[in-house]
Amino acid sequence: MSDRKLAPVPPDDGWSPRSWRARPAAQQPDYPDREALAQVLRELQALPPLVTSWEILALKQQLAEAQEGRRFLLQGGDCAENFEDCSAEVISNRLKVLLQMSLVLVHGLRLPVVRVGRFAGQYAKPRSADTETVDGTTLPSYRGDIVNAPAFDAAARRPDPRRMVKAHARSAMTMNFVRSLIDGGFADLHHPEYWDLGWVGHSPLAEEYRRMVAGIGDAVRFMETLSGSEVHNLNRVDFYTSHEALLLPYEEAQTRQVPRQWGWFNLGTHFPWLGMRTTALDGGHVEYLRGIRNPVAVKVGPSVTPDQLLRLVDMLNPGDEPGRLTLIHRMGAKHVATALPPLLEAMRRDGRRVLWVCDPMHGNTEKAATGYKTRRFANIRSELEQAFELHAAAGTRLGGVHLELTGEDVTECTGGARDLTDADLARAYRSTVDPRLNYEQALEVAMLVVRKQAQLAAPRGA
Ligand code: PEP
Ligand code: CO
Repeated sequence: MSDRKLAPVPPDDGWSPRSWRARPAAQQPDYPDREALAQVLRELQALPPLVTSWEILALKQQLAEAQEGRRFLLQGGDCAENFEDCSAEVISNRLKVLLQMSLVLVHGLRLPVVRVGRFAGQYAKPRSADTETVDGTTLPSYRGDIVNAPAFDAAARRPDPRRMVKAHARSAMTMNFVRSLIDGGFADLHHPEYWDLGWVGHSPLAEEYRRMVAGIGDAVRFMETLSGSEVHNLNRVDFYTSHEALLLPYEEAQTRQVPRQWGWFNLGTHFPWLGMRTTALDGGHVEYLRGIRNPVAVKVGPSVTPDQLLRLVDMLNPGDEPGRLTLIHRMGAKHVATALPPLLEAMRRDGRRVLWVCDPMHGNTEKAATGYKTRRFANIRSELEQAFELHAAAGTRLGGVHLELTGEDVTECTGGARDLTDADLARAYRSTVDPRLNYEQALEVAMLVVRKQAQLAAPRGA
């Protein structure tokens, strides 16, 4: 079948980068100054793109391979980036922890890993309410740095379209720094010790990690001795970006046509996804996403029915194109065993081609007694382990994980190798939105994915 036949949208069906405007779009700010908004969108449209169509198509190919079980997807980063944290240290530490996790996964799963950051554009946040009331004062909710500022005062909370230009610039700086680090050999497999974060010396996981790194170093040297030459491509890895396609005027302004390619691409990110609150079949977000050629993902929560999911898949991937659609389930440790199997069964029965990914974070958010929003590592672990088992039982394949994490030493999720408690949360709680895994907890998740897969692959009774 030619690529053209797999076009997400037939040329005459009325889709355009702005056709979402005729639909109800949830979670959009109310910009008081419409003229300033229009001016910003014109400015954004004229700026160069952040990514290219060939990178997007290469990622789609890798995701198609993940669907077939020939790769594993690691997608992770902050819940929300903020303008302040666009710094060398934060960006390189986050890159390091993602690289370390991918090393653990490659080594343990014996599969290439598709690396996708939740960064270089993850600035918009869905909220449960449009407004927030404190001591009798009601203001618009904070919707992420691309829209307004978190401080509770009228000026900070006023949606400001200029913030989109700033978010675009910060995304470009992040992207540029990540690309330079990787091109400069930061991810060189000859020197994984460069990826060490300070913790490695004193973590309970350090020994396991060091043993693995030493093993990889030996393997690389062995191959080089055998072949008599340097193993190439080990000094370079691919890194892709993703963010929630929430703020539709911004996404529309990033949607472009390119020479020698048909159709439209969102060139603001490689891999946009829809959050759980914006998947209405007749809503603006699904309308926008269905017409672009990027690979796309959708978060699937516990209230989605098999019928709704099938209709969503029909809209977003009518041609059953390989690599096009990823479904990220985020059910919560308590609900996954009941909510997931009917969805897996419906998709399997209909023979739909999707990549299944587990987000074990967003269904497990709770409030600690001390008032902090947190997640217990035991619940994250439980959801992930159950997900692997449920897929194995359904005859489907869990092909990736989606995580909120940081390379910083924060205390936002409890539990893990260091067994953080509610009392530890106050020590280094830095997230303005959801609690993230710190570097150690993130690495622990990678290790548990490997262990779980090995356990499922082992012959029964072994
Ligand atoms: C998120 O990924 O930060 C998020 C808000 O997720 P969800 O849409 O799954 O709740
Ligand atoms: Co989040």
